Amino acid sequence: MLAISRFRSSFRILAAASFSADASADFSGPEVKTRIPGPESLRLISELNKIQESRAVDIFIDFKKSRGNYVYDADGNRLLDVCNHIASLPLGYNHPDILSALQDPGILHLLAHRPALGIAPPTEFVHMLESSLLAVAPAGLTDVMTMMCGACAVENAFKTAFLHYQRRERGETEPTDEEYQSCLRNEPPGSPNLTVLTFKGSFHGRTFGALSATRSKYLHKLDLPAFDWPAAPFPQLKYPLDEHEQENRREEMSCLDAVRNIAREWSERGKPVACLSVEPIQSEGGDRHATPYFFRELQTIAKDIGALFHVDEVQTFGITGKLWAHEHWDLPHSPDIVTFAKKLQTSGAFVRPGLRPDRSWRIFNTWMGDPSKMIIADAVVKCIKKHDLVQKTGTVGAGLLKGLNELQERYPAILSRARGAGTLCSIDCRTSQLKDEVVKALQNEGIYIIGCGERTIRLRPSLVFEDRHAAVFLDIFDAVLARQPK
Ligand SMILES: Cc1ncc(COP(=O)(O)O)c(C=O)c1O
Repeated sequence: MLAISRFRSSFRILAAASFSADASADFSGPEVKTRIPGPESLRLISELNKIQESRAVDIFIDFKKSRGNYVYDADGNRLLDVCNHIASLPLGYNHPDILSALQDPGILHLLAHRPALGIAPPTEFVHMLESSLLAVAPAGLTDVMTMMCGACAVENAFKTAFLHYQRRERGETEPTDEEYQSCLRNEPPGSPNLTVLTFKGSFHGRTFGALSATRSKYLHKLDLPAFDWPAAPFPQLKYPLDEHEQENRREEMSCLDAVRNIAREWSERGKPVACLSVEPIQSEGGDRHATPYFFRELQTIAKDIGALFHVDEVQTFGITGKLWAHEHWDLPHSPDIVTFAKKLQTSGAFVRPGLRPDRSWRIFNTWMGDPSKMIIADAVVKCIKKHDLVQKTGTVGAGLLKGLNELQERYPAILSRARGAGTLCSIDCRTSQLKDEVVKALQNEGIYIIGCGERTIRLRPSLVFEDRHAAVFLDIFDAVLARQPK
């Protein structure tokens, strides 16, 4: 273990006033006994590899022993987890509120069945939706459809937009016989040439529609057929945003012009944009931010071109200092569709009224979610509200970002572009290779962290990540950086 002190002492005052949603359930720091991955993780990886591709596995996890923000791996190493299963553990490990919700004998029948929610939901379903998902619904979005994963939510957001577009085009008339026949051949007019406009660097998932909208890495897309859909440039901003307002504004205006032009060109080519989809922060693509101005203008463009404005909040729910990241934008109207997954434990989309398909079975699959995960979502939502966890991501995140900025000043040859919203923070390394080395060194010093984009180290702490955890992270990061060749 490295000696740690610097940030811990600067966080001492904050820590004294700190909240604790899981006070009894945490540790004072990491404890690393082996290289990461250790021999037992390596053995399990090799066993798994006999059955399935497992080269992406970092460590095997001892879920039983892990608590709060600390994860135990198969070798008994205890790491501070700022990855959280790619941003998807809302309350860390074994949170008492989740455990107690699952121990309620009155829910055993819900755990025992995975129903076809679209045709035969449990009697409790309406209440479950109301008390969990609808309790955190974005303002103005009163419909919610539950789905299977983030990509599945995105697929159905796109389908909602296409169905809406066609219904608007067709008006009250019935589809023609030619439309019925041609859709079975995957041909227009039944399968219309509608498109989704997304952004270079975006990530919306790996199923075919979502993957066509994804533009982050070759690895995800190579050798796979894709829909012919447009992509616009996403602003490449300078950080801190408030110190580069003018040049950032110029960059955003140029990207907005490109969006308008692309939408017009594709419409002229007979492939109109039915859905304009954007992440509030391009996450997998390298934690790229834009300003509220950019998003407000995008919403206007979507309206002007007759497309739905879809905000993909799969990665951003709860962590940016607001419940939904788009609440930072001061939009004049709600987005049309907001997709979620990860921290809400169940996935789906909030949709504004008037966008339901004209018939049943059109937005559908067998499970359409999972009531057992909604029990967890319910406990998460209640815990968020009880402990004001979202607001706390704002205060804890401010300290974390301040610490990252300090490190960037101390190690200018290694780090740049510290940025963040709430605890969704990140920083770039000089090269992609250096990023990989720093991530590995951090893991070996007891921080479970991963990168994103080309050169970015990203933090995705749980919502019970406190100042004291930030201090542990920053101290260890500092020590790891001090050892890097300058
Ligand atoms: C913004 C965004 N959309 C969609 C997805 C896909 O979610 P899933 O991996 O659950 O399919 C992700 C996953 O990282 C994401 O970050």
